[in-house]
Amino acid sequence: MGLLTGDALYSVAVALAIFLLLVDLMHRRQRWAARYPPGPVPVPGLGNLLQVDFKNMAYSCYKLRHQFGDVFSLQFAWTPVVVVNGLAAMREALVNDKEDTSDRPPLATNELIGFGPKAQGVIRAPYGPVWREQRRFCVSTLRNFGLGKKSLEQWVTEEAACLCDGFASHAGRPFRPYGLLSKAVCNVIACLVYARHFEYDDPSFIRLLSCLEAGMMDDSVFLVQVQLNSIPLLLRIPWVAAKVLPAQRSFMALNNELLAEHNSGWDPDQPPRDLIDAFLMEVLKAKGNSESTFNEENLRLVILELFAAGMVTTSVTMSWALLLMILHSDVQCRVQQEIDEVIGQGRRPEMADQARMPFTNAVIHEVQRFADIVPMGVPHMTSRDTEVQGFLIPKGTTLLTNLSSVLKDETVWEKPFHFHPGHFLDTEGRFVKREAFMPFSAGPRICLGEPLARMELFLFFTCLLQRFSFSVPEGQPRPSERGVPAFIVFPSPYQLCAVPR
Ligand code: HEM
Repeated sequence: MGLLTGDALYSVAVALAIFLLLVDLMHRRQRWAARYPPGPVPVPGLGNLLQVDFKNMAYSCYKLRHQFGDVFSLQFAWTPVVVVNGLAAMREALVNDKEDTSDRPPLATNELIGFGPKAQGVIRAPYGPVWREQRRFCVSTLRNFGLGKKSLEQWVTEEAACLCDGFASHAGRPFRPYGLLSKAVCNVIACLVYARHFEYDDPSFIRLLSCLEAGMMDDSVFLVQVQLNSIPLLLRIPWVAAKVLPAQRSFMALNNELLAEHNSGWDPDQPPRDLIDAFLMEVLKAKGNSESTFNEENLRLVILELFAAGMVTTSVTMSWALLLMILHSDVQCRVQQEIDEVIGQGRRPEMADQARMPFTNAVIHEVQRFADIVPMGVPHMTSRDTEVQGFLIPKGTTLLTNLSSVLKDETVWEKPFHFHPGHFLDTEGRFVKREAFMPFSAGPRICLGEPLARMELFLFFTCLLQRFSFSVPEGQPRPSERGVPAFIVFPSPYQLCAVPR
């Protein structure tokens, strides 16, 4: 066949352009449906990919909300997206319409970490029986963990003591606390999953931590993820596929080693030592049941997700808590005063103390509100047509839940952009719950690790403040209260001094 001449080439190019435009229009037709949420005009092919700042989605959405209102639409290449903002719209979407809004968008990248029809983990699983079975299993294992043996609270308390020893080893000199905090938090999940406490300098543990932190970066390269998932064909290119999610794949390899080591000590006739034993029991029970999601591939995914969802989130929150204590020494003093009155110095803090410590409880809540560490939540998807605030959102639309817009809602909070524990106290100094406190999201997909995270935050925070006073190192500038925008918002790097009390 001869080469195309100039004219023929031109005609082919025009035909191709018209074809692509028609395909593009087809994907965008729902924008013209009555009551579809308003939004910025998408450009052919890319949609609004170039109009939002993926490194700081919360700020882009803050500006778009002022322009388009509480429910607005975006287009990521050909993927329709609706962003929900503010307490009223969020409750309506996640709670009132929960049966329509609790699905997850399918991600082409999932296949790369072992996703299959009966192995979909929890976070990424579509809303349905596969998700429900694993969610129930995780919630009940977390609740019943350690029955008859060491309780989760005991594990956390012992880990808090190791954390305090780590802080003490700096002997009052300046250091960055995040490394120790992440080790303590990671160890709590390791206890839950592998019934194992790692020494802080164990090489396997250090590898585990670095995979998890780098895995966060995999997720943070949100733009790349969105583009790859909006244009899944890209993943058919072998060198692109090989470069995606490197840290999560390294985690899977390391987890296989830890699992093999763990499983060699498993005795099905003994009570389960940890989540893996409980899972393996379910695998045995489910033999012959083709509907069951209890299989070894799914076990690997569930473990990855518990570490990935529980480690960085809780350590970053703790890191914010200490930063806010060195910046607000008056608040730190009041927390220590409450610790001294309720617990004293003679024993370790317990969860039962929380009810008698309204100020400390309010401070921890305010840390979570102010730090706002998962500003855009985890994407949802509509599983059928639904309505939010009078707008029609068709089935299959990705929903971004702008949690930041609720935690910093100017119509709800007295001082939305300031650290103010008074948000959670009444005039008598009693703790008050606030409906707009939603760092764990809401509805059926609400964070399943919330009780564990709350326990860690309370016990780590009170143990640390019972033993140390924290301050900005002498001669160093006051650290910033601004976070580093990303999928998970870290505080700007800072150092502190921990001086024994
Ligand atoms: C301060 C700590 C934490 C924060 C702020 C946090 C926040 C969140 C958020 C915002 C979601 C998304 C909810 C949605 O889709 O609407 C989520 C989901 C999830 N979190 Fe957490 N989380 C924390 C700690 C943990 C811990 C400690 C674990 C477990 C060890 C955990 C496990 C999960 C899981 C498995 C999901 C997926 C739930 C589902 O899809 O059904 N999280 N978390």
